[in-house]
Amino acid sequence: MMKRFWEKWRKGWGAALACAGVLLAGPAVSAETHESPEMRWWQTAPVYQIYPRSFADTTGDGIWDIPGITRHLDHIRRLGAKAIWLTPVYPSPMVDNGYDIADYTAIDPVYGTMADFDRLVAAAKDRDIRIVMDLVFNHSSDRNAWFLESRQSRTNPKADWYIWRDAKPDGSAPTNWRSIFGGSAWTWCEERGQYYLHTFSPQQPDLNWENPAVRRALYDAARFWLDKGVGGFRIDAIPYIKNPAFRDGTPDGADGLVSIHTMTANTPGILDFLHEFKAEVFAGRDIFTVGEANGVHPEDLPQWVGENGVFDMVFEFSHMGLALKDGEIWCHPTPWKLTELKAALTATQEATKENGWCPVFFENHDQPRSVNHFFPPGADREKAAKAMATVLLTLRGTPFIYEGQELGYSNVAWPSIDDYNDISSHGQYKIALEEGFSPEKAMTFVHFFSRDNARTPMQWDNGRNAGFTTGKPWLPVHKDYARQNTAVEERDRGSILAWYRQLAGLRQRHRALTEGSCEMLLPSDEQVFAFARTRGQDRLLTVVNFSLEEAPLPESLTAGKKLVMGSEGPGERTRLRPLEARIYEAIE
Ligand code: NOJ
Repeated sequence: MMKRFWEKWRKGWGAALACAGVLLAGPAVSAETHESPEMRWWQTAPVYQIYPRSFADTTGDGIWDIPGITRHLDHIRRLGAKAIWLTPVYPSPMVDNGYDIADYTAIDPVYGTMADFDRLVAAAKDRDIRIVMDLVFNHSSDRNAWFLESRQSRTNPKADWYIWRDAKPDGSAPTNWRSIFGGSAWTWCEERGQYYLHTFSPQQPDLNWENPAVRRALYDAARFWLDKGVGGFRIDAIPYIKNPAFRDGTPDGADGLVSIHTMTANTPGILDFLHEFKAEVFAGRDIFTVGEANGVHPEDLPQWVGENGVFDMVFEFSHMGLALKDGEIWCHPTPWKLTELKAALTATQEATKENGWCPVFFENHDQPRSVNHFFPPGADREKAAKAMATVLLTLRGTPFIYEGQELGYSNVAWPSIDDYNDISSHGQYKIALEEGFSPEKAMTFVHFFSRDNARTPMQWDNGRNAGFTTGKPWLPVHKDYARQNTAVEERDRGSILAWYRQLAGLRQRHRALTEGSCEMLLPSDEQVFAFARTRGQDRLLTVVNFSLEEAPLPESLTAGKKLVMGSEGPGERTRLRPLEARIYEAIE
């Protein structure tokens, strides 16, 4: 009975939405967008993030390539995206899958050629999409020519391009800092008889930003890509570029070390460097910048974004780290509450509402899949993905959609640590064992946090290797790919992909969603995430049930409003079904 009703509703609504310009499984997004003089292009449309190795492979080597993106640009356009953030594609030994750059102004042959890149920029431009590059300027690869020279002696021209320090009198490392991937943050170099600092792996030595020649070289590299017509930059690990006094901290783990994050992230003086960076490279250009800023908190945002800030947006992580104990990175999941998620997002909204802008994101290549991360175990994947999408695309800010999120991808759980490629998962597993956890328990942490959860290849169809490659994929394809893939979702009007496209269409028709104010509602409700978006007479209300139980919905919230999108059909006005998402529009 219910099913028949729902089917009927879907057909009725499907038709109505199609008339209104929202085609359910087709191109929901029209070419036209409202352009407001006050808003910049990157504020009103989503950004789509592509992970280098896992998008689409045209050569059969099992690894993504640039022509693979060019082939699938229309998939991205139909989500309403105006920019693609491309995680690093530069030559790299791939110890950290490209976040260890050997040459800042070239393309790694495994991904294609510079001509392929230029063709991608042009093909994207034809679709009004810009390519955004990832600048990894806190560190380079240890195979970068700069480091190879620097490590040779204490007197060569690049001797001071990295952070070198003498050993302590007993020969041990200069400080007791633990790198983010585990182990000491210092590695000994025989040639110089000194240690060098690495916030991440030993193959990612930190560049010395105190040296003006280093800063000039980095700015030149960024300008190289601007000259190629890119639309902006995501700036990696930026809070670590300024090192405070080199002193020991209080150990916080069984290894006797202290997390480098607590010692060096966002320390005084960093903004001087970043203001220079902005003035030299970004100022006055029609591009956007988004800094990856773990360690920058909502109260810091006024200095980081907006007119007097250094970037257009920063990824601030307080809502992503709720399952982590204080200061910890990628270990021991701990329970968290919906009210904490709301409070974290509210703090970012508040800090940027007068002056500044923020990205909205729940996934990226370093995070678990959002259907696992933000919903209780046992949550229906499809419903959870639609619930997350509804918040992502209606909250104030620029939505960042991470590849596969628009298809509701979920985590993997491979049996052995040897199945994992992610360097941080290996570090996390080792730390867990050192702290006395059993190998089985340590694997549960890996299952929860591993970055490989987000790095499995895209699932394009239900053919061999999900249509990702004709060769052997570099990482196994998700086991559920036959049910979860783009081709299947394209054909289903009720799919997660169709829901994303409808949301993208709704954003185009309602300036309240792109430009309106945002009022967070029901802050102490542990089930329902609710907020209102308003721009003049255009007023929308989003309500999403994050729990697996029915949730009451105060009548006062929906009075005088009509439903414009509902993941479960019209339903009762005063209740939300488990994981249900609805958007209402004010009718007076
Ligand atoms: C943050 C990047 O997102 C992550 O993937 C990388 O491992 C580190 N920075 C080091 O570059």
